[in-house]
Amino acid sequence: MLSNFIDATYIVSGLMFILALAGLSKHETAKRGNAFGILGMVLAIVATNFAIAYTDYANHELQPISAVLLYAALAIGAVIGIWRARKVEMTGMPELIALLHSFVGAAAVMVGFNAFLQRPDASGFQQIEVFLGVFIGAVTFTGSIVAWGKLNGKLASKPLALPGRNWLNLGAVVVLGLLGWWFVSSHSIIPLVLATLVSLALGIHLVASIGGADMPVVISMLNSYSGWAAAFTGFTLGLTILVITGALVGASGAILSYIMCRAMNRSFISVILGGFGESTAVGPVVEGEHREASTADVAELLEQARKVIIVPGYGMAVAQAQHLVAELTRSLQAKGTDVRFAIHPVAGRLPGHMNVLLAEARVPYDIVEEMDDINDDFATTDVVLVIGANDTVNPAAMEEGSPISGMPVLHVWEARTVVVFKRSMSAGYAGVQNPLFFNENTVMCFGDAKASAQAIVSQLPQLEATAR
Ligand code: TAP
Repeated sequence: MLSNFIDATYIVSGLMFILALAGLSKHETAKRGNAFGILGMVLAIVATNFAIAYTDYANHELQPISAVLLYAALAIGAVIGIWRARKVEMTGMPELIALLHSFVGAAAVMVGFNAFLQRPDASGFQQIEVFLGVFIGAVTFTGSIVAWGKLNGKLASKPLALPGRNWLNLGAVVVLGLLGWWFVSSHSIIPLVLATLVSLALGIHLVASIGGADMPVVISMLNSYSGWAAAFTGFTLGLTILVITGALVGASGAILSYIMCRAMNRSFISVILGGFGESTAVGPVVEGEHREASTADVAELLEQARKVIIVPGYGMAVAQAQHLVAELTRSLQAKGTDVRFAIHPVAGRLPGHMNVLLAEARVPYDIVEEMDDINDDFATTDVVLVIGANDTVNPAAMEEGSPISGMPVLHVWEARTVVVFKRSMSAGYAGVQNPLFFNENTVMCFGDAKASAQAIVSQLPQLEATAR
């Protein structure tokens, strides 16, 4: 009876996770999707608690000390989780996500070792499950830590280019295959330990070889890996809900990686294999003179403009300028200017980053356009405001020999005037210099994006009054 209840609750919980994914696919239903996800997780935790109690009563397997340890670990994890989630800045989300993926990987490795130590003579099929879980878990663990380091700037975002790196990866896969065969046929812990070490090194090498520009894909790929690691853990533990959720995360992460690869014109296979065959070019050095504009100059430009496109990027998130940018949009619209937003698929640091910030600032969805829908309109635009964006508007992507070559970018330079808001002439996330800044029709408005937007918002009405 109790086991039927537990199984039924797991099925409902799995259904909730599917509804959560469906909801998260659109901005309008994202909140509802999150609610389904939370409900699914609560149900899964309740059912797991019953499952533990059931095991305890039926088989006397669970000692009180295990229950105390379990709930103490749950409580400590929940406190740390709530504290971090409340403290994290929107801009720090991708790093936090990368770090959380590493925990899933580490858990899969530990569960695998635990399962082996408890039943070293398990069947060959179960040994394969353990081996795959430990392998994917270890790759996810170190890969995610490297991704975390690259995202928060503790590690260089440039791709690591070891000589013969593709052969190193291939060699590691062959060695892992041989260790897997040794493990299944011998039931010895030695090949499992060796495979863990090789997988940890492979995880570091795979992600370290991928350049900054491809990091968004890596994050969603690691998300996928962490899902598969969880699914294998579910097989090992005989937990259907973990198999269901792991497979959902694994499959959706893989689909997202594929979509992002297409958006960035990257080969899915090459990114999965740690930048296989990709160029490790650092891009040409750009020299020239740039022109500067004050916020008063920009306000005057905007006063004259009839058609304006705003291109937000990571710098807008850092500056938390979205509310002032929304206010600037409303002021311009109030005087009849046509204002739209152009969103690059990898602007910011996580998929949909800019959409979330603009929605938070209550910018209407109908003026927020995707890259492919707006790219042809720059040519007929008076002023483009590039707010803290850099790589996503870099014309170097259209040339050979740059690390971002082939990545589609927003053609902002086709507009009559381009205003770039940033604090310095420094490169963007991919570490590539941007020739846009030296174009004749580009002006640089240096300073924090929020302070600049604030200054322009306060200068616009005065200009309007003078014009009247
Ligand atoms: P980036 O190329 O990262 O450039 C952001 C610019 O914002 C920087 O050049 C910086 O210049 C400026 N900035 C920083 N703080 C600022 C502030 N307070 N006020 C004004 N400007 C500020 O941004 P992007 O165009 O959005 O491109 C995103 C990049 O991140 C791409 O390379 C993408 O591949 C990568 N990435 C994306 C994701 C996802 S999924 N979206 C995930 C990881 C990485 P200053 O320092 O001179 O101010």
